[in-house]
Amino acid sequence: MERILTQLLKNDTVSGQALSEKLGVTRAAVWKQIEQLRQQGFVIESLGRQGYRLVECPDSLMAPVVRQGLDTSWAGREIVYLRSVDSTNRYARQLAQEGAAHGTLVLADEQTAGRGRRGRGWISPAGESIYMTLILRPQAHPSQVAQLSLATALAVAQGITRSCGVEARIKWPNDIVCQGRKVCGMLLEMNADEQSVHDVVAGIGINVHPGAVSEEIAETAGALDVLCGRTLRRAEIVRGFLRAFEEVDALMADGEAFMRAYCEHSATLGRRVQVIGLNGSFIGTALGVTGSGALIVEDEQGKRHEVLAADVSVRGLMGYV
Ligand code: BTN
Repeated sequence: MERILTQLLKNDTVSGQALSEKLGVTRAAVWKQIEQLRQQGFVIESLGRQGYRLVECPDSLMAPVVRQGLDTSWAGREIVYLRSVDSTNRYARQLAQEGAAHGTLVLADEQTAGRGRRGRGWISPAGESIYMTLILRPQAHPSQVAQLSLATALAVAQGITRSCGVEARIKWPNDIVCQGRKVCGMLLEMNADEQSVHDVVAGIGINVHPGAVSEEIAETAGALDVLCGRTLRRAEIVRGFLRAFEEVDALMADGEAFMRAYCEHSATLGRRVQVIGLNGSFIGTALGVTGSGALIVEDEQGKRHEVLAADVSVRGLMGYV
């Protein structure tokens, strides 16, 4: 189906005969796949002998749609689209083990067992959000992976800001917030030994349409459509993220410039926060982020603490951010 869609996106009209020759399938098989695309919301005109014409594209995440106008050099050069999967992170981990290339992107319309941080789930209704996982093979020591998680957050924030025209900021370490509401969460999982990282799967869930925000999360979460006041196309947001990721990846070579950019997009720095750990909590002011990704918080007695995302959760005193 993806190959037929690619031809329809590339050409104004394309004949059934040309499609069957190009793809090496019968005319009946072409017709069947055209019908399947129609069922998924693609409006395809039949023009008799002239063949078929794509008149309207739905809000699809199919690989040929996402690839349209994608000008990255490595991020998302390989795209695997799944209508439904248990978890794109789980699927991407399997692909990474089978040798998938750096920059391979796994995208799904629905997850049946989406994973969140701290062992929680991630509610993933069909067609409402973006569920994606980028496979990375960084030349990095395991201790540098926290920085990759900040980099992913920065790329998502920049990608959303540019493609949706609404300011997106990072709630440390890597939630993305717009107008005080969480619109995106990330889960990075690495496969490493003591010396080096073999691969990292960077899982990203972005709430796009209103149905992404169920009652359970309505107090703190938001959908980009609602916050922007218009109906967005998910493929456009994915492309924005992939472009931004390549830029941020290049920026990481200059540690100081990278941290400056991260801090500029932070929603946490300069704010009063509550740091909640296993052994209690304290209130302080978030002052900065260390090179290894820890948050520097000054408590009410003036003592500075470096807190790690794995050990604590941070809450704003005036709501979620
Ligand atoms: C969080 O708890 O804030 C992180 C949520 C991460 C969800 C995304 S959706 C795509 C990818 N696949 C998963 O199973 N989880 C991540």
